[in-house]
Amino acid sequence: MADVFVVGAGLIGLSTAYELAQRGVAVTVYDRDEPAQAASWAGAGMLAPFSEATPDRELLALSRASLERYPGFVDGLRERTGVDVRLRRDGTMHVALGEAQLAALAAVADTFRANGGDVALLERGEVLAREPFLAKDLAGALYVANEAQVDNRRLGRALLAACRGLGVRFERVDEIALESDARRVRGVRTPYGFAAAPVVVNAAGAWAGALDGVPESARIPVRPVAGEMLAIALPPAAMRSLVWLGHRYLVPRDDGRLLVGATVVERGFDVRVTAAGMHDLLDAALAVAPALASFAVVETWAGLRPASHDGRPYLGATPIEGYLVAAGHYRNGILLTPVTARAIAALIVDGAAPELAPFACARVGGRLVPAANHTS
Ligand code: GLY
Repeated sequence: MADVFVVGAGLIGLSTAYELAQRGVAVTVYDRDEPAQAASWAGAGMLAPFSEATPDRELLALSRASLERYPGFVDGLRERTGVDVRLRRDGTMHVALGEAQLAALAAVADTFRANGGDVALLERGEVLAREPFLAKDLAGALYVANEAQVDNRRLGRALLAACRGLGVRFERVDEIALESDARRVRGVRTPYGFAAAPVVVNAAGAWAGALDGVPESARIPVRPVAGEMLAIALPPAAMRSLVWLGHRYLVPRDDGRLLVGATVVERGFDVRVTAAGMHDLLDAALAVAPALASFAVVETWAGLRPASHDGRPYLGATPIEGYLVAAGHYRNGILLTPVTARAIAALIVDGAAPELAPFACARVGGRLVPAANHTS
């Protein structure tokens, strides 16, 4: 019998399995899909606790703690697997296309600084000296030195290889349901039958709220929020900085793609790439870097962010003993991967993870807000 079942082979599920396996726990990971797909594959890999600004101090603290863990986390993966996940700690840049935007960025700089951001306002000449590919008439930029990016698709491959090396088992199944009695978890049921385990972790991303068999008292209200993206073929030397324009972002990858993201659309589990979404993204990208107009769009895709009812992930125990949740990370799943995995593993193995208290599932307690329909 395995000690722990993890439902969901995304970055959260894989990293939790990785942490547990390093501590000698036998782990089986269940998913309907191949590992490291869905949001783990679709994301842009931004590690940006300040730019993904949240007024929630607890979430900000968890995000910063996870960012600090990243170098050690990726070094460990590289040592085990040889996979370089391309952690780039060269900051992010918010550009202003006019004086009004620049004035607004000055106010944003104060907020980021108060939150722990290492920020500087750059004049047009300084921005263009760093990034000559950007619009020549931009007004300036806000640079955030202590933000980073990682190649999330590589991270998925690295975690999968590390898990396999540590003996983690993977089961791809069309259906999966939790099995429990009134007080404690018993295991999972799949089309192949019942499998027993004393601990089951729900890390099913946008599908975490829909896991079959979960008693009402332990349900978490995760809902999907789509994000559409595209990639433009661009020589890696053309742009080095991760650039924001408002809520849109351009993320240069070493593999010759410039990622452009992302829309924020509530329309259920719909991952279509729409004309409106592409129009929106290309509008922003060409305003920031008009020279992109003559380069090829080489990829379009959409993913589903797992949103919670209050913006915080659901992490830790539930009223069903042995049934744990690690879900609802919304825009910050990749950023929060190391800290989530470490804390959930500690909770299972050591019986305590005090840093998870503000993210307890118990807070759901009937205060759910209905999902708003919006596009931004
Ligand atoms: N973290 C970026 C996004 O969710 O679009």
